[in-house]
Amino acid sequence: MSTPDKTTQAPSLQTPGFIYANGAVRPWADATLHVTVEGVQRGMNVFEGLKGFWQPDGRFGLLAMPRHYARLKRSAALMHMPFDMTFDAYDAACHEITACQRDPGRNMWLRTTLYIVEGHWGHGDRTDLVCAAYHHPKGPAPRMATGVTTWRRATDNAMPARIKTGFNYLAARFAKIEGRSRGYPEMVLLNEAGRVAEFIGSGLIMVRDGVIYAPPASEGAFESITVDIIRALCTDMGIEFRMRPIDRTELIIADEIAAVGTLNDMVLISSFDGREMGPSPVLDSVLTRYLDACEGREPHPAVDLTFRRSCSWVGRRRTDGSPTAFGREIYAVDMPLPDRDQGVTSTVSGMSTRFMGEQKTQGNARSIQTPDPDRALWFFEGLWPKQNRPRPSCLSSPRGTAVQ
Ligand SMILES: Cc1ncc(COP(=O)(O)O)c(C=O)c1O
Repeated sequence: MSTPDKTTQAPSLQTPGFIYANGAVRPWADATLHVTVEGVQRGMNVFEGLKGFWQPDGRFGLLAMPRHYARLKRSAALMHMPFDMTFDAYDAACHEITACQRDPGRNMWLRTTLYIVEGHWGHGDRTDLVCAAYHHPKGPAPRMATGVTTWRRATDNAMPARIKTGFNYLAARFAKIEGRSRGYPEMVLLNEAGRVAEFIGSGLIMVRDGVIYAPPASEGAFESITVDIIRALCTDMGIEFRMRPIDRTELIIADEIAAVGTLNDMVLISSFDGREMGPSPVLDSVLTRYLDACEGREPHPAVDLTFRRSCSWVGRRRTDGSPTAFGREIYAVDMPLPDRDQGVTSTVSGMSTRFMGEQKTQGNARSIQTPDPDRALWFFEGLWPKQNRPRPSCLSSPRGTAVQ
């Protein structure tokens, strides 16, 4: 067995409490794949990185869901991976996994990954969608230094950049490790023709004489949803935005550069290959407009958000593994508050009152009021006699998932 390299400081990664896998929200540790499945052995997966933003009215919106769903479907189709989940089910799964873990002080980033869990070289394939959600700081990311990596983006007929799959991040791994030694968290990848493809994990935009340029997909750039959104915002802001090939030397003389993508929105570049860059007035204004739209201060049609309307039973976890109906367990139920969503809560509020009353006397239940004015997340912990448990059919709307 190999041991971790202690000479470099690794970032500490979040381990959320829950994960969506095999059709339902489950405790994090329950999402497992056998080491021999193709999803593990050959890295046969396709995925999406998505973002959720708190809104001024306290709701939590997921960005560009139809476009993420469509792109995941395209990646799966290109890989010959079955993926027959409907958009509604995909959207609901993403909302489920965020709903039980939200933190009012932070936005969330999600990764939805479709793995091959059965099958061999395209025969008898079965897939499973796994959704994980992580907390992400609000507001603009700090500016960063970057440079060009010695690694290249592979061509479309070798490793198509259009497919968002884990094995497409091989050059990214090399470049990350190379960049670390030079103090660059992200690096620019050139294509085989020596022109700019993009950053290793995000799109690239550049400003020259007030015009924004981005390389098209045919240059080896991933088909970025954020680039598309920014382009639409620029149209309304009166900023010219063109997609065209970008030479390496153009980055050296560019007025402004940014890395753009769902995870970090837009990161302005402070220095490129050792050359300090000045302020970024054009991209700064676009970044402000982008965040204003995502965070609901100034909505824009290109920044489409979906919201969760259903109430559902979002998780149940045994803390001591006791199999009895009276064991210590934690139940998390996300439900609308009584005065808001009358249709659902008329059933739920009765139960909630009953159970909270019961739990309060035992002193082992807590409710978490989410900043979403429509919802509360209730945790019931401890004794919960089986005959009194809320029936999932009462707690779940059609889009909810009962975890049993
Ligand atoms: C290689 C690469 N390019 C670009 C992007 C940006 O794509 P999007 O804006 O859709 O997040 C990503 C983000 O996942 C990426 O991994």
